[in-house]
Amino acid sequence: MKRRDFVKNTAAIASASLLPAGVWALSKDGKLRTAHIGVGGMGAEDLKSFASHDAVEITALCDVDANTLAAAHKLYPNAKIFADYRVMLKELGSQIDAVVVSAPDHTHAPASMMAMEMGKAVYCQKPLTHHVTEARAMRKLAEDKNLVTQMGIQVHSFYDYKLATLLIQSGIVGKVKTVHAWSPKNWGYDGPAPAGADPIPEHLDWNLWLGTSAERPYKEGVYHPANWRKLVDYGCGTLGDMGVHIFDTPYNALELDIPKTIKNKCRKPNGYGFPEHNIVTYEFPGTQYTTEKFKWVWYDGEGAPKKHKDLKLPDNQKLPSQGAMFVGEKGRLLLPHFMELPRLIIDGAYQDLTEDIAKVTASGQIGAPIRDYEAEGKKHYHQFVNACLGEGQCTAPFSYAARLTETILLGVIAGRFPNKTLHWNSEASRFDEEEANAFLDAPYRDF
Ligand SMILES: NC(=O)c1ccc[n+]([C@@H]2O[C@H](COP(=O)([O-])OP(=O)(O)OC[C@H]3O[C@@H](n4cnc5c(N)ncnc54)[C@H](O)[C@@H]3O)[C@@H](O)[C@H]2O)c1
Repeated sequence: MKRRDFVKNTAAIASASLLPAGVWALSKDGKLRTAHIGVGGMGAEDLKSFASHDAVEITALCDVDANTLAAAHKLYPNAKIFADYRVMLKELGSQIDAVVVSAPDHTHAPASMMAMEMGKAVYCQKPLTHHVTEARAMRKLAEDKNLVTQMGIQVHSFYDYKLATLLIQSGIVGKVKTVHAWSPKNWGYDGPAPAGADPIPEHLDWNLWLGTSAERPYKEGVYHPANWRKLVDYGCGTLGDMGVHIFDTPYNALELDIPKTIKNKCRKPNGYGFPEHNIVTYEFPGTQYTTEKFKWVWYDGEGAPKKHKDLKLPDNQKLPSQGAMFVGEKGRLLLPHFMELPRLIIDGAYQDLTEDIAKVTASGQIGAPIRDYEAEGKKHYHQFVNACLGEGQCTAPFSYAARLTETILLGVIAGRFPNKTLHWNSEASRFDEEEANAFLDAPYRDF
């Protein structure tokens, strides 16, 4: 089935309960009634963060794994429970105001699009989508319907990231030429597709787990939970996982848009798993905060290169295991991932940032550092809830998230063409290299 048809079908299912955007502001007692799709793994964290807001009523839970669903239901016994998000959205209709999508990447767009067609506010985990065409469609629908949306990049609302953004924008390292970013995580798989099939556990609805994606025989421990992110049919590899978080601050701070060229240095594609090691180089048109040409280089699997002049720290200190280095005309800014202050390096020595931080703090834009992950993390979720209730705006709405996700996904696609520079024509939404366009979309399976 084509994505268009899926959206049409699900919209038809939902049309009986179609509501105008903004209806949540009228919900009873000023409460926001949330429905959660995927309540294990990150979904369990998302649930906790939503529940920590006084105005939130956890109204419905959906998971294809009955054990996971039962565990979440124990914590939120008043919520209605479902295995199929389509049934949940159709049945509950106007009884919910916002939908939280925390399922694996391949289900983000189908579930979010259906919810948005119904006029719901949507909080969707990162990366926003599995395919470039889906990211563009999500952005358009959210804008057309004027919906409150937020992508689950909670670190976007953390103190250190906001601080780094303002420092970079103040010109502390001059115009930025390059950003290097790295993670040693390995969400790739260089082996062959496993042979045979294992019995599907009774507690798992494998057909619903697969959703619109390609059908595969079930194999224990290979897909569900978490390992799906290593596989091209369901996830986006390490770049789509950690890259979204770590590139978010440079992307936002430098006001980047869509890249012009992308090259991924990795092994040959095998059609099943993502490469275990990737070095992805992007070139972007310049912005007011960059030199005329700007380059972003991403390293995963092994993390940062052992020796690189841009990544050398004073006193031969070790680089943080994950992070980003802004290389400017006047110096460098290191942003460890995460919850550590950025560090300024000029002429090979660390510089005192006290005065710069005081200036930024005085501007009232960043608040005080909260050195507690849970407390910091909640801010991003509460921002969404408050925006739904008419207070303030989201800082990672789909208009932003779709561009960041598209950029990330172009690097994922470049992994299909190792060491080849791909040229992206953003206006036409096409690569100049025709063979790469086949990976911008994928047919939706009927399920
Ligand atoms: N923002 C963050 O820091 C962060 C951290 C981890 C994961 N994530 C994102 O969260 C999402 C989930 O990742 P995870 O690590 O929790 O994966 P996971 O496989 O551990 O958990 C996914 C959950 O969704 C359920 N599920 C799968 N398909 C479903 C469907 N069609 N309908 C309802 N439930 C379904 C699974 O049973 C499971 O409970 C991913 O998009 C991932 O990128 C974000």
